[in-house]
Amino acid sequence: MRHVIEEARATAVEQGQSSDGALALISARAAAPEIHQAHDTIAVVTGQGAADPRSRFGLMAATLFAGDQLGELPDWLEALPDGARITVVVAPDATDATVLDRLSARIDTLTVVLKLLAATQRPCRMLVLTETGAGGAPAGEEAGIRAFMRVAINEFPDIDPRLVDVASPAPTEALAAIMAADDAERELRITASGVEISRIRRGMEREAPLGPDERAVLHFADGVGLDGFEWLRQARQEPGEGEIEIEVAAAGLNYRDVMVGLGLLDDDLLGAGLTRAALGFECAGRVSRVGLGVTRLRPGDAVMGFAAGAFASHITCPDWHFFPVPDGLDLEAAATIPVAFSTAWYALVERGHVRAGETVLIHGAAGGVGLAAVQIAKLHGAQVLGTASNDARRAIAMAAGADAVFDSRRERFADEIRRQIGSVDVVLNSLAGPAMLASFRLLKPFGRFLELGKRDFLDNTQLALRPFLRNIAYSGVDLDELLAADPALVREMMAKLAEAFGNQSLRPLTYRSFEAYEVGAAFRTMQASEHVGKIVIRPPQAARTDLASLSYAARPGLYVVVGGTTGFGFATARWLARKGASHLALLSRRGAVDADLAAELAEMRANGATVVVEALDVCDKAAVTETLGRLMREHGPLRGVIHAAVHLDDGLIANLTPERLRAVLRTKVDGVINLSDATEDLDPDIFVAYSSATTLIGSPGQGAYVAANGFMEGFMRGRRSRGRPGLAVGWGAIADVGLIARDK
Ligand SMILES: NC(=O)c1ccc[n+]([C@@H]2O[C@H](COP(=O)([O-])OP(=O)(O)OC[C@H]3O[C@@H](n4cnc5c(N)ncnc54)[C@H](OP(=O)(O)O)[C@@H]3O)[C@@H](O)[C@H]2O)c1
Repeated sequence: MRHVIEEARATAVEQGQSSDGALALISARAAAPEIHQAHDTIAVVTGQGAADPRSRFGLMAATLFAGDQLGELPDWLEALPDGARITVVVAPDATDATVLDRLSARIDTLTVVLKLLAATQRPCRMLVLTETGAGGAPAGEEAGIRAFMRVAINEFPDIDPRLVDVASPAPTEALAAIMAADDAERELRITASGVEISRIRRGMEREAPLGPDERAVLHFADGVGLDGFEWLRQARQEPGEGEIEIEVAAAGLNYRDVMVGLGLLDDDLLGAGLTRAALGFECAGRVSRVGLGVTRLRPGDAVMGFAAGAFASHITCPDWHFFPVPDGLDLEAAATIPVAFSTAWYALVERGHVRAGETVLIHGAAGGVGLAAVQIAKLHGAQVLGTASNDARRAIAMAAGADAVFDSRRERFADEIRRQIGSVDVVLNSLAGPAMLASFRLLKPFGRFLELGKRDFLDNTQLALRPFLRNIAYSGVDLDELLAADPALVREMMAKLAEAFGNQSLRPLTYRSFEAYEVGAAFRTMQASEHVGKIVIRPPQAARTDLASLSYAARPGLYVVVGGTTGFGFATARWLARKGASHLALLSRRGAVDADLAAELAEMRANGATVVVEALDVCDKAAVTETLGRLMREHGPLRGVIHAAVHLDDGLIANLTPERLRAVLRTKVDGVINLSDATEDLDPDIFVAYSSATTLIGSPGQGAYVAANGFMEGFMRGRRSRGRPGLAVGWGAIADVGLIARDK
C-alpha cells in the first residue's frame, strides 16, 4: 500500500483546495484546551549559540539552559522542592551550522532531555517547539524533529511529550494555555488565528469541481462495503451515431445496485442483460448532446430511461433507451418511473396477462416495483392484495390502492389470504425460500407466478412440478435482459406508461432523494428495506481523480536513481525503464548491481534502455555535482531524480549515540539536499525521495530513521512551495525487495 504523507496539503484541504496525499495529516481547529492544572516550574532548553527564546515564547519566568548548560539540568531537577510539577520546553535553534549539524544537535539535545526526564521520579512533561518555516509548513529540519518526537511519544509514554509548531510571531497566550492543558492532544500548531490540532485522515482529498468535459461516476472500492464509494472523475463521452448524452438530474436506486455495490452480483450472473452488473440502470435528466441521426430527442429535452452506470453526472447511450418525461413531472419524480413501472408492467401485463376481476397478490407492496404494481393492477381492474413488513408500510400500500395488505414477515400471510379471500390468479413475488413456496401454493388453476427476486434462482431452489398439472405458469422476470433482447416491446411499454402518466391514471412513486455524498446511507437504507417507494440519488458537481486511471509515462532522457543498485531502488529503475525512461543511472557507494539482479539488468538493456551503473556517495556534495553534470552531458537532459538510498541502524532512543544518529541522518538529509542543490537550475519532471510509513506512526526503535524520513518529507514540501517538483513517498513495508525482504 502506498502512503504519501502530506502535512502541507492538510492546510490546503482545510482551505478547500485539492490534495494528492493518499494519507493526509490534516489540521483541524482545536477546541479550547481544558485547563486542568498549571505546571508551575518551567525550564527552557535550547542549543549552543541560540538567542534566548524565553521572551519570544512568553516564558520569561522559566529557567534557561542553553548549550553546555544542559549538563546543569539534572542538578536543577534534583534541587526542586518535592511536589513541584515540571515542564521542560525544548526550543528551536537558529545557528549557522549545516542542516545536518543542526538537526543532529537538536536530536542529541532531545535525547538527553528525554533520558533525564525518564529517570526523574517527579511529575513532568516535555514540550518540544518547532517553528513554521516558509510557505506555512514546517521545513525539513522542523519536520525531522517532529517525526523524531513521534517516536519519543511512543517510547516515553510516562513523559507524555507534546509537539507544538509555532507560527511566528508566536501568540504566547496560546502556548501558556497548551502548557496548562491536560488533554490528549500531542501535536498542535499555533497560528495567528488560533490553535490547530493534527488528525490523520484516510484517503485522498482530491475532490474538485468537474470541468466542462468531465463527468462524475460512482464507484465502489473492492471489499470495503457500502461506505467504500467514491465519485470518480472521467471524460464525458461524445454521443456517436444514434446516441444521446444526458445530464443526469437523479438516478433511481434498485436493490440490485445494493447487491452489485456489495460485490454479490457480477457480470457472470447478469451477463445476458443490457446493463449487466453496472451500478445504476435508470435515471432522469436533460439531453445535453445528440449524435448523428437522432431526431426523436433534442438537447434540452427532459427524459427518463435506462442506462448502464446511471449513477453519474452524465451518461451517453443509445437514444431509444430514453423517453420524454410526461408533462408536469419534475425530473426527480421521473427518475422513479423507468425500472419500477416497466418491471411491474412487463410482469403483470405482458407475462401475467392480468385481467379485470382477477385477484393479484403483490409482495413488497410498499417497495418501488410493488407500489407501481399496485397501481398497474388496479388500472387493469384487478383486486389487489399486498404484503408489507410493518404497519406503516401496509398503510402506504393501502393508500396506493391495495384492497388488503398482509404481514409479509410471517408466512401466516398465506393462511390468512386463503381464509379471508381464497386463492389468487397472479402472484408478483419478491420473497425467497418458504415464503416463495407458500405463495406459489396460493395459485388457482391457470394462475401465473411472476418471480422478481434473484435469491431463489441463485440458490437454485427446487420446485415440485406437480402443481403445474393445473395450467399454472412460473415466469422469471428480469427487465435488464428484456432491455437487451426486445427493445421494441420496451418502447411500446414506455409509450403506454407515458400515456397513463399523461392522463394521470398512474402517478410517480413516493421517493426519498439523497445527495451524492450520502450514497452509503442511501444504499444502506435500501439494504435494510427502511425506505418506502423509491430512493433517488442526485449526482455531484465535483469528483475525485481515479488513481487507477493515472499512469506514468517517462520522457526519453536521463533518470538518476540513487540507491538503484539493489532493493527497491533497482525495482524503481526497472519500472522507469518499462515506463519509457531511455537512460538510467544506477548509483550507490559500491557502484555495482547485486549479482542476483544481473539477469534483470541485462533484460533492461536488451529492451533498449541505456543503463549505467556508477559509484557515488550521495553524501559527498562535490561528487554529486560532478557525477550528475557528467551523466547529463553523456546521456541527455535530466528527467527524474529518485533518492532511494538508506543507511539503517535501528535502536531505541535510550541507546542512540550522536554517531549512530548522524550516520542514519546523513544519507537522507545530506543526500536529498545535495541532489536538490545539484539540480537547482535544471528542470526534472520528477524529484522523488523514498520515505516510510513509520514516519507517520513514529515507529518505536526507529527514532533516527524516522527523523531522517521526516526531514525528507518536510524538505519536499519546501520544494513544492517553491514551485519545484518534490515528493516523498511514505512506503509501507515492502515484502519482495529491499531491506525488509532481505532480513526475512
Ligand atoms: N524496503 C522496505 O520495506 C522499505 C519500506 C519503506 C521505505 N523504504 C525506503 O525505500 C528506500 C530503499 O530501501 P531498500 O529496502 O531498497 O534498501 P536497500 O536494499 O538497503 O538499498 C539501499 C541502497 O542505498 C544505497 N546507499 C546507501 N547509502 C548510500 C550513499 N551514501 N550513497 C549512495 N547510495 C547509498 C545502497 O548501496 P551501497 O551500500 O552500495 O551504497 C543500496 O543500494 C529507502 O529510502 C527506504 O527507506 C523501504
